[in-house]
Amino acid sequence: MKRYDQLRKTADEFGQEHLFQYWESLTDDQRLLLLDDIERIDFKTLASLISEKHTDVAAIDESKIEAPPVYPHEPSESQKELYAQAIATGESMLRAGKVGTMVVAGGQGTRLGFDAPKGTFPISPIKNKTLFQLFAENIQNVNRTFGCKMPWYVMTSSATDAPTRTFFEVHNYFGLDRDDVYFFEQGVMPAVDDAGKIILTEPHRVALSPNGHGGSLLALRDKGVLDDAKRRGVEIISYFQVDNPLVSPADPLFIGLHQHAGSQMSSIAVPKADDLEKVGNFVSIDGKIQIIEYSDLPDSLAHARNPDGSRKLNAGSVAIHLINRTYVEDLTGGTGVSLPWHRARKKVEYYDASASTTVQPDAPNATKFEMFIFDAVPLASQSIILEQLREDCFSPVKNAEGVDSPATSRRDMVRRAAKWLEACGVNVPRDANQEPQATIEISPLRALNAKQLCASLDASQKINPNDEVYLD
Ligand code: UTP
Repeated sequence: MKRYDQLRKTADEFGQEHLFQYWESLTDDQRLLLLDDIERIDFKTLASLISEKHTDVAAIDESKIEAPPVYPHEPSESQKELYAQAIATGESMLRAGKVGTMVVAGGQGTRLGFDAPKGTFPISPIKNKTLFQLFAENIQNVNRTFGCKMPWYVMTSSATDAPTRTFFEVHNYFGLDRDDVYFFEQGVMPAVDDAGKIILTEPHRVALSPNGHGGSLLALRDKGVLDDAKRRGVEIISYFQVDNPLVSPADPLFIGLHQHAGSQMSSIAVPKADDLEKVGNFVSIDGKIQIIEYSDLPDSLAHARNPDGSRKLNAGSVAIHLINRTYVEDLTGGTGVSLPWHRARKKVEYYDASASTTVQPDAPNATKFEMFIFDAVPLASQSIILEQLREDCFSPVKNAEGVDSPATSRRDMVRRAAKWLEACGVNVPRDANQEPQATIEISPLRALNAKQLCASLDASQKINPNDEVYLD
């Protein structure tokens, strides 16, 4: 009863007493569920978000926005030495076990419309390997290549936690040592209606949703990940998102450049596909690197050109970062990290007492609040950006169809495999549009790049039109 009194008092204080309106009619089990939900709410933060009607993201002063410095994909003559040294540094950090990796897999994947956690989505073009399996195999290859045991921190949310853990169990961790896979659940934020009242989805359930990928920073601290990383001697956490099968979680060049620059948080960029592409845009403001979401970038800036006609803001974010462990410790120490909150109008199911039922609205009826990981970039004392080719590192599974869908992601996996084979001197048949005329899949256990593939190919490797070729 003590817990009830306490939570009831807090809800009353913050004008959210309606959360208890059905209390008298709830069973004991339902009461417990309701108290558990309410206990997870950060009422104080929510109150400050509700009271500010404007967006929390700082207004953009266009006159200050510059293109940021970017390490190019191919080094210039004067950078060749630096790149070679960086690769050596990155490799030695991997060998020394100073790099861990983290995937954020707590999202709800609403656009894809897949019921299970997105990491369990089958994606590889021939073997139908899931996203989680591809990442696990990638990590195994890294461990084998560098003689390390790179820990893998998997961030889940209430919705994805149990099914994700079960999936790994059932598949025996895809060959990884289970002690090196660490699941941790992110925090939540409630959805509120237009009057600022927290929404109930049932008489005993609150509309809670994950607090955004930026919530990973606090979860790293609260769920013991930072302690685990410290214990293992991990200095850099390589961050990636669960929807991108082309990601390389341990890229020696990226790690080495980050280290040489004394960066606290670094990012991978790709040249934007078009002015209005729906990716974050890297900019520099007063010498600080920052990412502006496509939805917040003024049109005039999105279309701005350099004197030579090239796009002024051409570096798009692919949500791949290196983050120093001590940087996360600093950010989340004391009173905790204060990343800005982003609000979004969404359709959120709600309980309709008059009909005694849960209603799925047809139009957005609520506000959700999320933190974004990239808002930690400008808080770093030093930050760098490395450009990579999109075809090498980025093809996310976001939508069920069209752009960034399973079909485009599979296509891009085949394209990259064909490119690697050609780099090794293998002839890949191509059609009139230069698309590979065979379905090719390279297991991450076999190769993580063209160089590794070439070293293991024998001269008899042939690809014929319409072949299905799986290289394991
Ligand atoms: P997205 O912004 O693409 O969201 O997440 P989503 O939930 O996967 O998909 P939609 O928008 O509902 O269709 C980018 C990455 O951030 C993770 C996702 O799992 C994905 O890896 N993420 C997002 C979290 O881990 N937690 C969150 O609260 C939000």
